[in-house]
Amino acid sequence: SAMAEERSLAMVTCTAPVNIAVIKYWGKRDNDLILPINSSLSVTLHQDQLKTTTTAAASRDFTEDRLWLNGEEADVGHPRLQACLREVRRLARKRRGGSAEDAAPLSLSYKIHIATENNFPTAAGLASSAAGYACLVSALARLYGVEGELSEVARRGSGSACRSMFGGFVQWQRGERPDGRDSLAHQVAPETHWPELRVLVLVVSGEKKQVGSTAGMQTSVDTSPLLKHRAEAVVPERLALMMRHIHERDFEGFGQLTMQDSNQFHATCLDTFPPIFYLNDLSRQIIALTHRFNAHHGRTKVAYTFDAGPNAVIFMLADTVAEFVEVVRRSFPPATNGDQFVRGLPVGSASLPEELLAAVVTEPVPGAVRYILHTKPGPGPQLLDDPSQHLLGADGLPRRCA
Ligand code: DP6
Repeated sequence: SAMAEERSLAMVTCTAPVNIAVIKYWGKRDNDLILPINSSLSVTLHQDQLKTTTTAAASRDFTEDRLWLNGEEADVGHPRLQACLREVRRLARKRRGGSAEDAAPLSLSYKIHIATENNFPTAAGLASSAAGYACLVSALARLYGVEGELSEVARRGSGSACRSMFGGFVQWQRGERPDGRDSLAHQVAPETHWPELRVLVLVVSGEKKQVGSTAGMQTSVDTSPLLKHRAEAVVPERLALMMRHIHERDFEGFGQLTMQDSNQFHATCLDTFPPIFYLNDLSRQIIALTHRFNAHHGRTKVAYTFDAGPNAVIFMLADTVAEFVEVVRRSFPPATNGDQFVRGLPVGSASLPEELLAAVVTEPVPGAVRYILHTKPGPGPQLLDDPSQHLLGADGLPRRCA
């Protein structure tokens, strides 16, 4: 391969999904390698509704590494981004050392340009670091011709990012080794496994800065005895149970455990000292509404989960979507500013029986939910073949200005 001619410009574009944990990751045992104190399990959401797109380019003519986030130039020196870049290059070097067959490998010494954007508003507070790092690692790996285990690299960007390297239902195994080589994500079931499963993201109004995940979980590890108990005694049992519910497509079991695990995560936040609050009045209203809806039907038909932010993610089966969306619309009447209240996958219309209205819709709070995004489980990262989709032009600069 030393004889091979090096290419002068290479460009790759990938997309990657958001994921939502049903058994939560909260707490690291190694901050630098991003090794968790417990395993976690998530559902990958469909990229038609939520995705990151990233173009990575390398060229002999680039004079420095550069990065653009949603059209704005950003700091390429971020340690986690640099860790991902270093790890992909290390794998590329390792692979090339192993085979002399490689025609025209891309020089690892070329500077790179990276452009990345989301198909959802950053301001909506939807977790974007998982999709962002999964996408970055997918694009870099393609650029350098690296294949195989990449969740370990994505994990170095953000813990939850390793789960966005797969579609469907994904487990992140905590691993035992101090070097993290066994702290990997793998698919438990593909997105086709449970075709009726649907997801509503309730994007809430207002609410800006909370404590970030990284800082929050560090304080929790340092101060919360409940988190220690959770990681050691609760999560291992719950993981096995959750796998069974998913395998059997048991919505009631899946939904109940999803709500319980979200609640325990937020309990560890309250047990953190000083305490961290991610749930607010509106979150609690959504939780209570969900339980009233289930109580009215006499079984678990909808299940909420909340991460380190105020948006609610609600699981249900397809036959429940229209009715529950109508319940949300009645409970949080949209501000009539012309914005689409229901976005994403189509939602049918439903008229609510009087007794359901009376039992479930108690005190409406106008304008509290900005919009509802209707989506479902989806596949892992994708390579875009069409060069017209690149976010960078032939000159290596962003095609569109923000
Ligand atoms: C509450 O993956 O954002 O969403 O590893 O420090 O980047 P870092 O944290 P991050 O934490 C996600 C926490 C969570 C639960 C989850 O996704 O499992």
